[in-house]
Amino acid sequence: MSVESKLKEITVNSFIKKKQNNEKITMLTAYDCSTAKFFDEAGVDSILVGDSVGMVVLGYESTHHVTVDEMKVFTAAVSRGSKRCMVVADMPFLSYHMSVDEAIKNAGELIKAGASAVKLEGASDHTLEVIRRCVETGIPVVGHLGFTPQYLNVLGGYKIQGKSAENTIFILNQARKLQQAGAFCVVLEMVPEESAKLITENLDIPTIGIGAGRYTDGQVLVADDILGKFSEFKPKFARRYADLQSVIKQAAANYVADVNSGNFPSESEVFHLTDEALDKLKEMNSFEFNCSK
Ligand code: KIV
Repeated sequence: MSVESKLKEITVNSFIKKKQNNEKITMLTAYDCSTAKFFDEAGVDSILVGDSVGMVVLGYESTHHVTVDEMKVFTAAVSRGSKRCMVVADMPFLSYHMSVDEAIKNAGELIKAGASAVKLEGASDHTLEVIRRCVETGIPVVGHLGFTPQYLNVLGGYKIQGKSAENTIFILNQARKLQQAGAFCVVLEMVPEESAKLITENLDIPTIGIGAGRYTDGQVLVADDILGKFSEFKPKFARRYADLQSVIKQAAANYVADVNSGNFPSESEVFHLTDEALDKLKEMNSFEFNCSK
């Protein structure tokens, strides 16, 4: 799998600078080259190759089933499509939990596939050690706190985190630990706006919110949610900017109707032999040739 491993225009430093200058950071997920190219050209700062790919592209019920090999393919495709955007690849479930060495190896594989940074969930002692070692190795890390989908079964469902003062302080302390371990940014998922604001104001590294209100340093959403492609459910925090599901279904239905009626392909959509080749073909064929050009 080859990818041009060029430094993208938006780097770790751009994220830090944006926080310092009070400018918002924009991040969207993408999983393929053409969508990445569109987002890149539209001015998005960063593309997250999220393990949400398992649910929105591969049809799994949760993110747990995604493998490093799958993430490498999607990461390489996105990296080929983006010139400016920083590409962040999710480390999938169990790819960084077994041992620090295995975590570094897997993170390195995603960097070799074209990511500029990796993202991992939680702030356990083990995860903090993984972050330290990744950074020492030259792999930038994005943290992920609040609702962490890989902990779905422990959290007991898609639930808002940090709803009490104590839980807000707990997440703030986790975020500080991530910052201290060397993470350059932290995603806050599904936490109350007030909690996310407090956490954001008490960190030097930027926060990127998803369902975390208006005061985080940046926002991230899942591409299929903003494009109206994912039909299983629409999270309260997602805004739909397009209805691609209807556009795609209508296009496919039109195609089926055109093929069935003989309206596709038309004269402008076919290739023809030259007159010379056609004459020769007629000569070579002993049977009646009645194809009219
Ligand atoms: O996998 C993903 O898409 C994510 C976002 C929800 C932040 O982690």
